[in-house]
Amino acid sequence: MTRVAVVGVGAVGGVVAAGLASTGRLEVTACLRSPLDGLRIDGPDGGVQEAPVREVLDPSLVSAVDWVVLATKAHQTAGAAPWLERLCGAGTRVAVLQNGVEHVERVAPLVGDAGILPAVVEISAESLRRGHIRLFGRPRIVVPEGDDGADFAVLCQGSGIAVATTEDFVTAAWAKLCQNVANGAITALTMRRMPVFAHPGIARLGRALVEEARQVAAASGADLPPDLADRVIATLRSMSAESGSSMLWDRLAGRELEYDARNGAVVRAGARLGVPTPHNESLTALLEAVSEGRRRGEEVT
Ligand SMILES: NC(=O)c1ccc[n+]([C@@H]2O[C@H](COP(=O)([O-])OP(=O)(O)OC[C@H]3O[C@@H](n4cnc5c(N)ncnc54)[C@H](OP(=O)(O)O)[C@@H]3O)[C@@H](O)[C@H]2O)c1
Repeated sequence: MTRVAVVGVGAVGGVVAAGLASTGRLEVTACLRSPLDGLRIDGPDGGVQEAPVREVLDPSLVSAVDWVVLATKAHQTAGAAPWLERLCGAGTRVAVLQNGVEHVERVAPLVGDAGILPAVVEISAESLRRGHIRLFGRPRIVVPEGDDGADFAVLCQGSGIAVATTEDFVTAAWAKLCQNVANGAITALTMRRMPVFAHPGIARLGRALVEEARQVAAASGADLPPDLADRVIATLRSMSAESGSSMLWDRLAGRELEYDARNGAVVRAGARLGVPTPHNESLTALLEAVSEGRRRGEEVT
């Protein structure tokens, strides 16, 4: 039986672990910091999926598997190193279900000779409580064309998770990053939901963030439309008053923020490619200061 380990069984990892377990043809292990006592996914159509997965809390109790699905937040990757070290052997492949464009650089130092499959995650889900996840819409994952991508699509067959392969993963990953570069940073910094983008100055700032990312994307070889920034901000402005972002929810819950894989990644790639990114640089500094204040207990509440 093909052995799969999921590291990072939150909203995305929970949906994937439950879907893979439901196929009945895979041995799925959830690698956890504390018990879940089963997974329950509330689907978009009112259906409920309950999936018993093997739960392991101690990395010393696992060994090399065929596939690792890594779905921690990007900044939690290094903390998952003890799991990755035990789970990766010759022949293991690691599907990295995280936002951003630096999947390979981030994970390669932690997985030895294992293959790395970066993924664009089109799964809209939130954890209601540990192990209980609400899924909005049909889950979809986009991976690069090639043997690993094709094998991952086969792995997910019958799981309810659609896997698409693309010959232009650079464009797919940057398109997602351009969508994410304004909403998370601005909602988390202002501690306001999406209607904050109705403010003309905020809409201008959002456009500038996306346009910088688009220019870095173009220099990276991505093929994105020139009016992307206008489109992204128009979409954010049309969202319901209740909509927010995962970075806003993380800030409100006192958790670390995933800004470095988003705005920080735009700044790093821009510096490498000679594309100026002053707006993303400023917001990265602000978000870094928020995180630092939180770590040092210096946040004013
Ligand atoms: N949620 C979405 O709708 C969505 C959509 C598209 C893309 N994404 C991207 O997908 C990735 C995952 O996001 P998410 O929303 O699923 O995050 P999440 O709900 O915060 O889940 C992350 C999980 O990782 C676990 N974790 C962290 N460090 C760990 C460690 N050292 N060992 C074991 N488990 C560890 C956490 O466990 P604890 O419970 O112990 O903290 C948590 O369950 C992110 O890059 C995100 O940007 C998310």
